[in-house]
Amino acid sequence: MGRRRIVAGNWKMNKTPTEAVALVEELKPLVKNDDVDVVFCVPAIDIIPVVEAAAGTNIKVGAENMYFEDKGAYTGETAPGMLVDAGVKYVIIGHSERREYFKETNEDINKKVLKAFEYDLIPIMCVGESLDQREQGITMDFIRQQVKVGLLGVTAEQAASMVIAYEPIWAIGTGKTATTEQAQEVCAAIRVCICELYGEETAEAIRIQYGGSVNTKTASDLFAQADIDGGLVGGASLKADFGAIVNA
Ligand code: 13P
Repeated sequence: MGRRRIVAGNWKMNKTPTEAVALVEELKPLVKNDDVDVVFCVPAIDIIPVVEAAAGTNIKVGAENMYFEDKGAYTGETAPGMLVDAGVKYVIIGHSERREYFKETNEDINKKVLKAFEYDLIPIMCVGESLDQREQGITMDFIRQQVKVGLLGVTAEQAASMVIAYEPIWAIGTGKTATTEQAQEVCAAIRVCICELYGEETAEAIRIQYGGSVNTKTASDLFAQADIDGGLVGGASLKADFGAIVNA
């Protein structure tokens, strides 16, 4: 109750700067909705043109990653201050693709979350189990560990302002959406974990998204669940479907 919905697109490694501007122009009228926070998380090189193209609309721009140092000799990385200066409001941290392909650990993710708060960026921290883990029945143990380590040193006030995205790895890009029951069950358990860490008020305030093959058919049922406050959308955020998902 009282939590504002948030639907974010994660473009992943798609769209050149030119294509990015064209996509924003196409989606602008379709995602117009003042009751929902709408976020486009885009590749670093697309951030500046997307911020410009989205100026004056309800679209907020997010990054897909950032580094946990302020600046310095970290070739190829993007600093939090650069994101802020470019007009970024949100940053995805710890996406499962970054955990898997770029070996990010819960400890790295914790450093990034803390650094994001230092710069007033809102972290969208991703958690989620593999198919193996689900089949072994350790989904909740695994996710509780991701949440607890990811949030070490985060204050209750900070936690209340952030977003956690539950993305089961087996549902990402597979066309296999988790059932609404599966998604609600884990999102509710994440909220219980936040309640244990910070208390009721923070647990009621934090926004929890579901991600993994969200599409125009599954979005409205998912977003109607008590503990699901919106979605983190991959493939479907790159087309007109994203408008229908925002409005679901
Ligand atoms: P898909 O919606 O393409 O499954 O991707 C989900 C995701 O990883 C969003 O971060």
